[in-house]
Amino acid sequence: MEKQQLDQHTVSHTPTAPKRTVRAIVSAAALTCACAYLFSTSIHLGNPEISNPINIGYKEGNFTWKKCYDKYECSTLAVPIDYKNSSSAKFNLALIRLKATQCASKGPLFVNPGGPGGSGVDLVLRAGDILSKHVDGYYDIVGFDPRGVGASNTIRCFEDGTESKFFLANRNPYLSPGDNVANHAAWLEAQAKQCIAKNKDFLPYVSTASVARDIDSLRDAFGQELTNYWGFSYGTFLGATYVNMFPDRVGRVILDGVTDPTTFSGELVNWIKTSLIHTEDGLDEFGATCEAAGPEKCALANRDKALAFDGQHYVAPTLRYYLNHLINNPLLFSNTSTQGVVLQTHAANALFASLYSVSSWPRVAKAFSDTIETSTGNAFYNFVVEKENERCPLVEEYSLTAMPVLCIDGTHHDQPDLESYMKGLEEAMKVSPLAGRLWGTAMIQCIYWDVKPSERFAGPWNHKTQNKVLLIGATGDPVTPVESAAKLEDLMEGSGVFHKHHGWGHCSLGQPSKCTTKVIRDYLVDGKVPEKGSECAMEDLPFEPTASLQRFGDSGLTSQDLSDLADAVHSAQRRMW
Ligand SMILES: *[C@@H]1O[C@H](CO)[C@@H](O)[C@H](O)[C@H]1NC(C)=O
Ligand SMILES: *[C@@H]1O[C@H](CO)[C@@H](O)[C@H](O)[C@H]1NC(C)=O
Ligand SMILES: *[C@@H]1O[C@H](CO)[C@@H](O)[C@H](O)[C@H]1NC(C)=O
Repeated sequence: MEKQQLDQHTVSHTPTAPKRTVRAIVSAAALTCACAYLFSTSIHLGNPEISNPINIGYKEGNFTWKKCYDKYECSTLAVPIDYKNSSSAKFNLALIRLKATQCASKGPLFVNPGGPGGSGVDLVLRAGDILSKHVDGYYDIVGFDPRGVGASNTIRCFEDGTESKFFLANRNPYLSPGDNVANHAAWLEAQAKQCIAKNKDFLPYVSTASVARDIDSLRDAFGQELTNYWGFSYGTFLGATYVNMFPDRVGRVILDGVTDPTTFSGELVNWIKTSLIHTEDGLDEFGATCEAAGPEKCALANRDKALAFDGQHYVAPTLRYYLNHLINNPLLFSNTSTQGVVLQTHAANALFASLYSVSSWPRVAKAFSDTIETSTGNAFYNFVVEKENERCPLVEEYSLTAMPVLCIDGTHHDQPDLESYMKGLEEAMKVSPLAGRLWGTAMIQCIYWDVKPSERFAGPWNHKTQNKVLLIGATGDPVTPVESAAKLEDLMEGSGVFHKHHGWGHCSLGQPSKCTTKVIRDYLVDGKVPEKGSECAMEDLPFEPTASLQRFGDSGLTSQDLSDLADAVHSAQRRMW
């Protein structure tokens, strides 16, 4: 079975026929499903160098670019499954490119939206124009699906849709407070066994270190001396890994929304804890700025209708109170054609997700306000249905994206079994009651992920890089705290420069500013590295609508563009199942 699986997705040196390539990309786009809100990951233990990685010796010309989706070009690159094995079978990495609009192109800029499990092809399809405008058209914007993701040898757990529907009919995707943990864990264990059995010849080769080698193969195949890269969220771990494995190849590299690489590559529960230190602050800020904005701009800004108070504030206390209330009071929604249920986890997921981007705050405030007012789930219908639909493997086939990387990049020696894991998780749930449970219970799967990575990278993080790396941390980031960017700057000992972006939401996109937009542009376009201690102040308050045509720089980039880019990046990060 496994052999068959491999052969099916393995293509030899010659680039595949155009038809097949385009089909593969189409399916990647269709599989743009997002699931729970994880930006997940965790990584691993030592042994950074493999003694004799095979040198592929690509040259420019190994690509066959075909026009696709109007203005894009699509191609693939054959890479070995196992970089240690010179006779390793190969498979095709899926690529998409939007060419530079300037004649003086600075070459390819590889992008990764995070995840793990986010599709770079999908990101560029959705937001290639915006990324291009961001760099004044000076780069070819190149998205690739990391191995195991999207059109790049997707990890499939079932033969067909019928089989997966049968399996999924028995699942409980969310663990609500008070639910039976053992039942939930049993489902995840079965899922892990199913996916591992179907993919066991490939799963040891999907660690972040292997993806970093693919990036270097791409650099080589593009005929470049240096790699230019822009990674968000988990993409910062991928980037930190790349620049330390290939320090001589570092061109312009931006890591935006830095996760702590030492905890990501360490104990899973500890990584969850260190990631969520500002999540509840985000909720408090949501509440405080809602109150200040008033009822016209934030539907929850009405003290008389509040359900709870902490004295000074009422919005955040009301939301916390209401989420607690929903545990034992699920809601129905209905219109004449559809009926359904809103569970506490749906509402918690929607609220947590909204903390990624301040532009979503008014919409989410309105949904909660309507829900509290009517005691029906109707206002949540779209949130829930949207999310269910995005979980598209339900319909087509069931595939996994985040877990295969997350579970082998990190360790769980401290919490090797369910009991100790849940005990560890109690601490994480104290750090953030909202997010600790959502992340932690989904990641239970790692306990059962019996796969040994072929290679892992867990530092050291202080290799002297050819060029300085730009590290961006947002002060209110709910999942990649600003402290992690500062920490990586220290770890990199001069090879990275930390830029502090004052804003809420995830990465500098969560609440963009002209100032940080310019720092990014100047770094990528002019090679200008910010001074140590670089900072940009917040320019707009949450709930205060910015003119959507407000321009950022000379290229025509607007605040609406940046909000669309944030949506594209964040939705790619939220793959979980
Ligand atoms: C790339 O192209 C060169 C020249 O055509 C060829 O020798 C080489 O084997 C190709 N590499 C890969 C990985 O396909
Ligand atoms: C190397 O790859 C080949 C082809 O897939 C396989 O037959 C062989 O067992 C691999 N060798 C090792 C040491 O993994
Ligand atoms: C019920 O809600 C769904 C989803 O929003 C919508 O597509 C459908 O048109 C609605 N039906 C009615 C009768 O309003």
